[in-house]
Amino acid sequence: MRSGSGFDETVDANWWRQATVYQIYPRSFADADGDGIGDLPGVVSRIPYLKSLGIDAVWLSPFYPSALADGGYDVDDYRNVDPRLGTLDDFDEMVAALHEAGIKLIVDIVPNHTSDRHEWFKEALASPEGSPARERYIFRDGAGPSGCEPPADWESLFGGPAWTRVREPDGTPGQWYLHLFAKEQPDLNWDNREVRDDFLKTLRFWSDRGVDGFRVDVAHALAKDLTEPLPPKAVIDATLPHGSHPFWDRDEVHDIYAEWRQVFNEYHPPRTAVAEAGVPAHRRPRYASADGLGQAFNFDLLMADWDAAAFRRIIEENLELARASDASSTWVFSNHDVVRHATRYALPNGTDLHAWLLGGGADPQPDKEQGLLRARAATLLALALPGSVYLYQGEELGLHEVTDIPADARQDPAFFRNPGVEVGRDGCRVPLPWTVTGPSFGFGDGKAHLPQPDWFGQYSVEAETKDEASTLRFYRKALELRRRLQTSEELQWVERTDASALHFVRPGGWHSITNFGTEPVELPAGTVVLSSAPLSEGKLPTDTTAWLV
Ligand code: GLC
Repeated sequence: MRSGSGFDETVDANWWRQATVYQIYPRSFADADGDGIGDLPGVVSRIPYLKSLGIDAVWLSPFYPSALADGGYDVDDYRNVDPRLGTLDDFDEMVAALHEAGIKLIVDIVPNHTSDRHEWFKEALASPEGSPARERYIFRDGAGPSGCEPPADWESLFGGPAWTRVREPDGTPGQWYLHLFAKEQPDLNWDNREVRDDFLKTLRFWSDRGVDGFRVDVAHALAKDLTEPLPPKAVIDATLPHGSHPFWDRDEVHDIYAEWRQVFNEYHPPRTAVAEAGVPAHRRPRYASADGLGQAFNFDLLMADWDAAAFRRIIEENLELARASDASSTWVFSNHDVVRHATRYALPNGTDLHAWLLGGGADPQPDKEQGLLRARAATLLALALPGSVYLYQGEELGLHEVTDIPADARQDPAFFRNPGVEVGRDGCRVPLPWTVTGPSFGFGDGKAHLPQPDWFGQYSVEAETKDEASTLRFYRKALELRRRLQTSEELQWVERTDASALHFVRPGGWHSITNFGTEPVELPAGTVVLSSAPLSEGKLPTDTTAWLV
């Protein structure tokens, strides 16, 4: 066993259970070479910032060579670095520098599909039907007399058909391949031993380089039952329960992760993993089990209305589910796929965010002040919970969604595959503002790869570092205080007469209270160590969380 640069006998194998993990979307974080695209040396240059923020780990979204048909989730080569982002040496330097700063590194792994530029896919296209090269993917003959219809009427998650027809090496129209996402993301065939072995090699490749864990993209899609005849979409959608769906959340997927776990356990401390699995809550524990990936994302708060009862139900249910697999829960409000939570909370509960973005983000008008108030209150609440909290770059600045990206600057395949229906996810992926002014607000020396709005400077790291009341200063304080809560995983609810407040106590008599209502509420006796907004005459105002000891 090679230990990699992360080797340290004294490292706690449970470090992940209550970690604060900061997601870096590398192409939009910091651009060291001025080409408009963030890179690994950019990450290294901002390690002092990450350290001062007080996070425990970074989750790095894909940094692999990619044509960016899906923001890097279309991987050309799993064991390399996109030359625009750096080299493997830069990667090693980044790992060493993060570890030196006491920060762990989790990397994204994308096992459901490669890109269509992956050497396996190129080989599959150049090889005949039924060849071993095609067996690594999911190729089928088309329906209809000349095979000109897709094998089934399934839709891609980004809109449009989930099957694309290829030209055979002799130039004639030929077979179809499955892509649950964009057509540039052909799905792999996980029944193929070579595919499985190659991913084990990839897990070891990065683990040997000192990576501490993996975030597993669309973890619930790998196992597929594609026995003919393929069921039509209507049948799949209407009748099949989870566990027997032809591609989502099949029970056999866990055999794959049992093999991965053996690889993780070859290392000290064992490598960790977190599943991105869009499954019903009760199906989550298997992904999060100790003989599987160990942890699974819970996106329930990310989708919940701003409502005390909804938050309480979700928290109770997820703590219970985490206990069922001896994992710890995860809490997430924002990531690279969703509208930033400061903006979501600026809109009335129940707003259809797709439709709202499509309308240019104007109807209804967002109440940005309320949005930020609620976002801060929600984050402080989550930071008081047992489990790990996943933060998305820029939320510590209170950044809002960018809603006015012109069509010709958009990059998300969801925009191109759904004309007039969706604008996609670019609005939360705009490069971060580091300075008040300057080219790309300090992101780099050149123009950023997605346009930044004029108001970004006010939310820059530079501006917020100077402002004592800023969201950045608030996050720093909260993360520093949270360290005291990371020792135990107990939580006790305090029942209150005012149903609009959520109140719980953590060990050491640490109270967290959130006011979801419209009137200020009384605080219990104790010292307020932090509040997400100023108190009002000693009371907790609306849309505010306070911590007391
Ligand atoms: C995951 C990623 C998303 C990507 C998709 C396909 O949901 O978070 O960004 O588009 O998988 O890889």
